[in-house]
Amino acid sequence: MRTQVGIVGAGPAGLFLALLLQRAGIDCVVLESRSRDYVENRVRAGVLEDGTTKLMEELGAADRLRREGMPDKLLDIRFNGGIIHIDMPKLTPGRIVTVYGQQEVVKDLIAAGLSRGVPILFEAEASHLEGLTTDRPIVHFNHDGQAKTLECDFIAGCDGFHGICRPAIPEHLLTVYDRIFPFGWLGILAETKPFPEMSYSNHERGFSLASRRSPKLARLYVQCAIDEDLAGWSDRRIWDELQTRLYAKSGELAEGPILQKGVTPCRAYVAAPMNYGRLYLAGDAVHIVPPTGAKGLNLAAADIRVLSRALIEFFRIGSSARLDRYSGTCLKRVWKGVRYSSYMTSLLHRFEAHTPFERQVQQAELEYIAGSVAARTTIAENYVGLPFEED
Ligand code: APR
Ligand code: PHB
Repeated sequence: MRTQVGIVGAGPAGLFLALLLQRAGIDCVVLESRSRDYVENRVRAGVLEDGTTKLMEELGAADRLRREGMPDKLLDIRFNGGIIHIDMPKLTPGRIVTVYGQQEVVKDLIAAGLSRGVPILFEAEASHLEGLTTDRPIVHFNHDGQAKTLECDFIAGCDGFHGICRPAIPEHLLTVYDRIFPFGWLGILAETKPFPEMSYSNHERGFSLASRRSPKLARLYVQCAIDEDLAGWSDRRIWDELQTRLYAKSGELAEGPILQKGVTPCRAYVAAPMNYGRLYLAGDAVHIVPPTGAKGLNLAAADIRVLSRALIEFFRIGSSARLDRYSGTCLKRVWKGVRYSSYMTSLLHRFEAHTPFERQVQQAELEYIAGSVAARTTIAENYVGLPFEED
């Protein structure tokens, strides 16, 4: 097989790129190791910055998002001093986020891609890359029980954190920045009426978060151990912890059947640069952020905005100037996302290693935010998404 851009991975990064290239008349093939059903049902985060919503609209893939996405104006932070209300349109001004599950984004992008004839091969697992420093790099993959090759002009490594693309870059050329937080999030999907507002909470027993997926589906999280064994978490224990940590008043947090449980790590990781020869990495394949602040999907979409423009310019006028700037342009935004996610993580979690001094400082920070428009503006402008810098 031969194509212009070989895309490894059909997560949000790979799919956004495929649709943007297809719209510009550039051929691509998407290789995805999992089945369509698996990627469409993998429960992940669900907060779209307005730039990500606009990207869905520009791609003509936002019909369902417009109908089912939940525009969110308020962000609450609960702590033992009360509730901080962060009014996004007032502080940013005029901007909001949309709550819409990442797997819904993935479903919509797959449907749009397939209906436009974008080749998306499921259960096609890339095994290794070859010739990255030549102008004919090759993806080796397995499909239908056979070893196959995809010859490309460029390879886009959109294969997530555990993919094969980042490790294809010689180790000595990559600088890795890594911070593993000493806890994880136990997330549940529950059939019950969600909290009306996105509510993050700092409690002495640990962090918790009340989000939603629909008017009848709540998405809730509690801080847990990094290697938490789900067997120790009965439904009763989960609800009790949520009730306590969210400071829920009687009847405020409605309980219901738990449909899904899973543990998400809290880790910030960046590898630089984001390219090597004809390989360009995007999204989780090259950077991850802790989930506090919901930046992962939005950073992936921002990378793709930059990469698609650079590839289109290359194929239209033969200039690689934008491709050369790709990593530098993306990393500026990525580091701001890492900064924000790390800040929100530090602000809201219980750190076993904290001294009484550090606990007091965390508490003072929350009290300060509660009383300062400037502090709430800082949180709001990052949450809705920082402006895109011209490149
Ligand atoms: N060959 C083909 N596909 C692969 C391979 C491989 N060797 N390895 C991984 N994949 C696929 C995965 O199955 C997955 O569908 O690559 C895809 C990567 O998608 P994501 O992990 O969703 O990563 P990305 O598209 O960068 O999305 C960004 O935002 O909220 C965050 O972490 C969250 O997934 C999220 C991300
Ligand atoms: C979610 O809805 O899953 C969610 C919301 C906010 C976050 C992380 C996850 O910070």
